[in-house]
Amino acid sequence: IYQDASTASKEVAEEIAQLIRSRDEANKKTVLGLATGSTPTGVYKELVRMHKEGALSFKNVITFNLDEYFPMEPHSLQSYVRFMNEHLFDHIDIPEDQVHIPDGTLDRDEVAEYCQQYEQKIQEAGGLDIQLLGIGRTGHIGFNEPGSRPNSRTRLITLDRITRKDAASDFFGEEHVPRRAITMGVGTILDADKVILMAWGEGKAPIIKEAVEGSIREQIPATYLQEHQNAQVILDEAAAEKLT
Ligand code: F6R
Repeated sequence: IYQDASTASKEVAEEIAQLIRSRDEANKKTVLGLATGSTPTGVYKELVRMHKEGALSFKNVITFNLDEYFPMEPHSLQSYVRFMNEHLFDHIDIPEDQVHIPDGTLDRDEVAEYCQQYEQKIQEAGGLDIQLLGIGRTGHIGFNEPGSRPNSRTRLITLDRITRKDAASDFFGEEHVPRRAITMGVGTILDADKVILMAWGEGKAPIIKEAVEGSIREQIPATYLQEHQNAQVILDEAAAEKLT
């Protein structure tokens, strides 16, 4: 628990930077699982700052994003491709072919095979070293909404009503929010060597209490993280206020 989101974000960015540097020294690639949304922006800002100061290179980093709305054009205002470019990729030296974000432009009948390939690419890269997560008010991680199974893999899902409500302002009205998304599965996330879930602000306090102290259940997919061997929950004081 940190005093504020900015201090916490710096800590997380520092941990990621150290991992990248130690892997570089061992001539190994670093595989990062990344999230979008308001929560990780401070971490990305800090990583960009380190890169600009010449203290961090992403040449040996491979990234896999958690999710993307479906359907979604990469240049749309709300696309996660655009989000990642604006917050991170446009400002660092990561080779384009080492960036992976689920494709929101596929035909419906191409999705299942694409999702299998996404899983395969993660495997071929050597698996995720660190997976960054935010948490939705439904308790979703990625877009694994209530009802998601612990062994679920990358797939097309239907977004929860609450998630679509929360996205309404980004889309200028709930009716414009896509009904579906492609997301890494809970099982995909749990396979990461380390998982870092971050949450800021009092609005996240009730779901953080459930995620951390509630019983493990599919109604709150974030509770599955309690069974991960190396999962860390990073909070500001407001998000932690309901924890006992
Ligand atoms: C985003 C994602 C979501 C968000 C969650 C919280 O890639 O997978 O699970 O992390 O909805 O969103 P924010 O950070 O905007 O509160």
